[in-house]
Amino acid sequence: MKPLNYVLLRQEIRVGPDLGAWLAQGGGEGLEQALADPAALIPLIEAADLRGLGGSGFPAHRKWRFMAESGPAAAKYLIVNGNEDEPGTFKDRLLLDETPHQVIEGALIAAAAVGATQVLFYINPAITQGLRHIRKAVKQWQESGLLERYGRPIELKVHPSSGHYIGGEETAAISSVEGGFPFPKVKPPYPAEKGVHGHPTLINNVETLSNVSHIVRRGAPWFRDLGLGAASGAKLYCLSGDVLRPGVYELPMGTPLAELVYQHGNGLLLDKKLKAVFTGGPSNTILTAKDLDVALDFESVLQRRARLGTGAMIVVSHGTGIVKRVTEYLNFFAASSCGQCPSCKTGTYYAALLLRKIDTGQGSRADLESLQNLCRILPGSGRCHLPDGAIAVLRSSLDQFMPEYEQAIGGRRP
Ligand SMILES: Cc1cc2nc3c(=O)[nH]c(=O)nc-3n(C[C@H](O)[C@H](O)[C@H](O)COP(=O)(O)O)c2cc1C
Repeated sequence: MKPLNYVLLRQEIRVGPDLGAWLAQGGGEGLEQALADPAALIPLIEAADLRGLGGSGFPAHRKWRFMAESGPAAAKYLIVNGNEDEPGTFKDRLLLDETPHQVIEGALIAAAAVGATQVLFYINPAITQGLRHIRKAVKQWQESGLLERYGRPIELKVHPSSGHYIGGEETAAISSVEGGFPFPKVKPPYPAEKGVHGHPTLINNVETLSNVSHIVRRGAPWFRDLGLGAASGAKLYCLSGDVLRPGVYELPMGTPLAELVYQHGNGLLLDKKLKAVFTGGPSNTILTAKDLDVALDFESVLQRRARLGTGAMIVVSHGTGIVKRVTEYLNFFAASSCGQCPSCKTGTYYAALLLRKIDTGQGSRADLESLQNLCRILPGSGRCHLPDGAIAVLRSSLDQFMPEYEQAIGGRRP
């Protein structure tokens, strides 16, 4: 067990929207260094191997480079994605609430790297205190005179999202800041080519950007060294479900699942046995007790055919029915479909309906076969990944917990 090395959640920097206290703790130095040599930023982020922490794990430097190379544009946007609405994910709200200046400074450095002229803090209004704090903190930067160091105009704005889960998808976020309903758009073109009002747009998650000022100040080797094995940096893992000590844990990237659950989470309620972990939010393959040794980093989790996603770990103990839980998640995905793509709208709705039937003891073998068919035809059929996530958890539950489905249908035939 590597000693905890808090970065984003260090107690002394949890100063809320107090710019003076942030600067007194060394805040602002990263931005100062970044503005002295903006061309060095993308290679630095590449060397640090900073990954997108909003779910995809996509290397941050690659998106930044597309943006920087998107040519001279009248306006370039950076959207700071704080929509956070995936069940079991509650890390960004902590950052927005307790360290809004860390988020803002990271965003300003990213803006310098890619030449953004507008920075939009896109925040879920359900994160009430975080939204209040980011508003206050943005005003402080605007009034501080610090933005003048850019040598060119840079605009900061706070844009509350509509609060829908789908609004966190990057092109949906673009639709929202353009003033419409958060409908995802067809890709390509990608946001870096054609984003907000047709202008190049970079979208990064709150946690991703929170790391940036620290990397600039302390260097890429320092950041890489925070992780375990080949993994780089630290991660905010959201631990919830049937554990004694749920919460947000900042740990080295690559911390084993068992350590998170049993040492930090203090084990399961009533000393029960672990049955399953809905990983990365409930839109992924389910991990089970045989995966307790997995290192929680993007590559290692992928080797178990699952995904780290947002770093949310929802622990389920023996005695909890998987069919009921998956039914709840599919209800959520069906209700969250924006309805643009018929396959997603009807497919997630139909999957939820079949699951409700099975879970209430009225399902049949034909219903199970229909679920299997949906698992074959839905993935990749939408313009965004919502149906893929819904099917990943459904398929994984069918693969790993079929006896529970068999029991629920009680051998009924159509
Ligand atoms: C349905 C759906 C919802 C999403 N919600 C969020 C969200 O709330 N916050 C977020 O950062 N990314 C969310 N994402 C991922 C974004 O599309 C995008 O990959 C991310 O904001 C990029 O930031 P990153 O590279 O820093 O991770 C969502 C994706 C999908 C498909």
